[in-house]
Amino acid sequence: MPQKNYIGIGAIKNLAGYLRQNKVKKVFLVSGKKSYKLCGAKKILDPILKKYSVLNFTDFSSNPKLLAIEKGAKLFKKYDPDLVIAIGGGSAIDMAKAINILAVQDGNPRDYVLKKKEITKSGKKLIAVPTTAGTGSEATCFAVVYINKVKYSLKHKFILPTCFIIDPRFTFNLNQKITAETGADALAQAIESYWSVNSTAESKKYAARAIRIILKNLYKVVNNPDQKSRLKMSRAANLSGRAINITETTACHAISYPITSYFGIAHGQAVVMTLSSLLNYNNLVSQADVLDKRGALYVKRVIKDIIKLLGAHNCQNAQEKIESILKGVGLATRFRELNIFREDLKIIFKNSFNPERMKNNPRLVTKKELWKMLLNLL
Ligand SMILES: [Fe+2]
Repeated sequence: MPQKNYIGIGAIKNLAGYLRQNKVKKVFLVSGKKSYKLCGAKKILDPILKKYSVLNFTDFSSNPKLLAIEKGAKLFKKYDPDLVIAIGGGSAIDMAKAINILAVQDGNPRDYVLKKKEITKSGKKLIAVPTTAGTGSEATCFAVVYINKVKYSLKHKFILPTCFIIDPRFTFNLNQKITAETGADALAQAIESYWSVNSTAESKKYAARAIRIILKNLYKVVNNPDQKSRLKMSRAANLSGRAINITETTACHAISYPITSYFGIAHGQAVVMTLSSLLNYNNLVSQADVLDKRGALYVKRVIKDIIKLLGAHNCQNAQEKIESILKGVGLATRFRELNIFREDLKIIFKNSFNPERMKNNPRLVTKKELWKMLLNLL
């Protein structure tokens, strides 16, 4: 079933009608503790939701942990809602997606995360309302789950939200740092999706559109935001989500997970650390180390497309461009800027080979090459 979607400034007004049409009585609302109020959502949603019985679950931190999902699933089962509303950044939306699907299966949440059991039942209707412009989680059928600093991914078509409402107004109050980090996540997702071994004509169309929009709007939305740039970035984030929903992410994301879980670096900052290096690495693909079935020449053409999308004339120029974009929005491009040093890189290195994501990279990443890459980024 295609997702019902509403996008635009003021789009949240469609929520009331959607709840009415679906004859909802009990809502399970997943939201951030403070962000729900700060972004202006509470003020707008309170009058709409007062007609319904609402259980507001906020008991989780960023980067969804299994323990919080188990807690949420227990409450969900007891409450037995008709519908779920997820409102917040990627963590809140992933949390809601995971609870909604895991609460209705017969086994323990842990068994599904560890892939010991398969998802067989669909959850309740879920409306995702992103309040950041970055992850595109409203458009994907996966949810990130951390168990003891290790990242797992739940993936099933039943996890895709039934409906999403993107109202850029909720991003108006975001500070510069979060705007930059989330925008950077959308950029990495779009570029990685474009070069992913799973890319299709459709995914590349979404990814290319996202890259173009981000290039035009990221600097503005961070340094001098207006309604137009907020709207554009919300659209770009959604496009990057649609793109990775088809392709999944690749090496930059694989390497980012230990940077986030061991060093507390925000997801968007963590994923862009290796973006420029991997562009160059993938450009040097050969028939001996290509992972894309379409071959090394195809991958080289794809990288050429990305270089062009970045408005650069060769790979080195594209790398410089990525670094200048990141610096322009106050993001780090070297590990030492994040207080991550040589000894710490060993931890990142040891935990970087997330097989689910590494296998999507168009060129095989060997341990030797990865270590070299990390050292160069010190
Ligand atoms: Fe991401």
